[in-house]
Amino acid sequence: MKSMKTAAIAVLVFSAGMASAGPDNDVLVINGELTMTTRAAVPEHMADTPLDELLSGWHYRTDETQSLQADDFDNPGMVFVDVAADAWNTVEGTEGKACATCHQDPSTMKGVRAVYPKWNDATEEVRTLAMQINSCRVENMGADPYKYTGGKMANMEALISLQSRGMPVNVAIDGPAQSDWEWGRELYYTRTGQLELSCANCHEDNNGNMIRADHLSQGHINGFPVYRLKNTKLNTVHARFKGCVRDTRAETYKPGSPEFVALELYVASRGNGLSVEGPSVRN
Ligand code: HEC
Ligand code: HEC
Repeated sequence: MKSMKTAAIAVLVFSAGMASAGPDNDVLVINGELTMTTRAAVPEHMADTPLDELLSGWHYRTDETQSLQADDFDNPGMVFVDVAADAWNTVEGTEGKACATCHQDPSTMKGVRAVYPKWNDATEEVRTLAMQINSCRVENMGADPYKYTGGKMANMEALISLQSRGMPVNVAIDGPAQSDWEWGRELYYTRTGQLELSCANCHEDNNGNMIRADHLSQGHINGFPVYRLKNTKLNTVHARFKGCVRDTRAETYKPGSPEFVALELYVASRGNGLSVEGPSVRN
């Protein structure tokens, strides 16, 4: 019964697009000089999935949307990078410090985005970039944490991501992070909500198909934070997860919850090999 119901819903929800709706073969070159890896080999840990190639979400967007990401003057996300660059130099909190006091120039963050979420030995936890930023704000600056999915957080993530733009995502899934990674994988394949859909049902089984006039990608997070034309701001990973879970008509985990942190680790690892694109542009 259950599988019949799911199949019936799936027929209602998905429709194969026209041939032209499939991911395209364009190449993303930024500012005419930085060629991005938007297609990559499937990581070993995904050998048993139906995917035969990793494709950045960029391939599933229209030419107009794609071109916005190819030039920093056109990329609406870059304005927020400038805002974060000011915040980087601004003293806040009881310790009289700015990010720049300890980290000097944002360029010292090169490579950081590519390896997050990452195990933190001192606190014995997997940390997302957002958790690390707030840890520095609270413990090193005596400042208030940013709201986990708020604008200031998204902006700072964009500034830090930009330093790694073009580098391959390379998230570690073994060692102490392994149990969280396995938990994240389990969440990824768990059907939720009235629609009984898992992340995999949409982003693994149906990528390339249309869903409610939108073109389903493989659901990678190498482009985060993402500037969305829909809400004209930068969007964080957990805000996107929340929206996707809500689309299955399920109760969602909270941004910053251990569930979403584990899920982020797993989803990030599915993009190992793709270029860090943040801030990217999507619809
Ligand atoms: C008082 C010094 C200090 C200040 C101020 C500070 N940090 Fe840090 N930050 C550190 C130290 C020390 C580490 C590395 C140790 C750790 O993991 O906590 C670190 C680590 C980081 C990392 C992880 C780097 C990596 O290689 O994994 C990020 C990202 C970061 N800080 C961002 C920020 C941002 C953004 C701000 C401003 C909002 C900030 N920090 C303010 C001291 C500081
Ligand atoms: C009902 C189908 C559906 C389900 C289930 C679903 N998503 Fe999505 N998701 C979408 C649609 C539609 C988009 C927007 C188009 C795109 O980029 O795929 C999207 C976009 C995304 C993106 C942004 C990709 C990019 O390049 O910007 C991520 C990341 C993502 N989803 C992750 C998830 C995760 C993790 C889950 C499970 C918790 C999930 N999704 C479940 C439909 C779904």
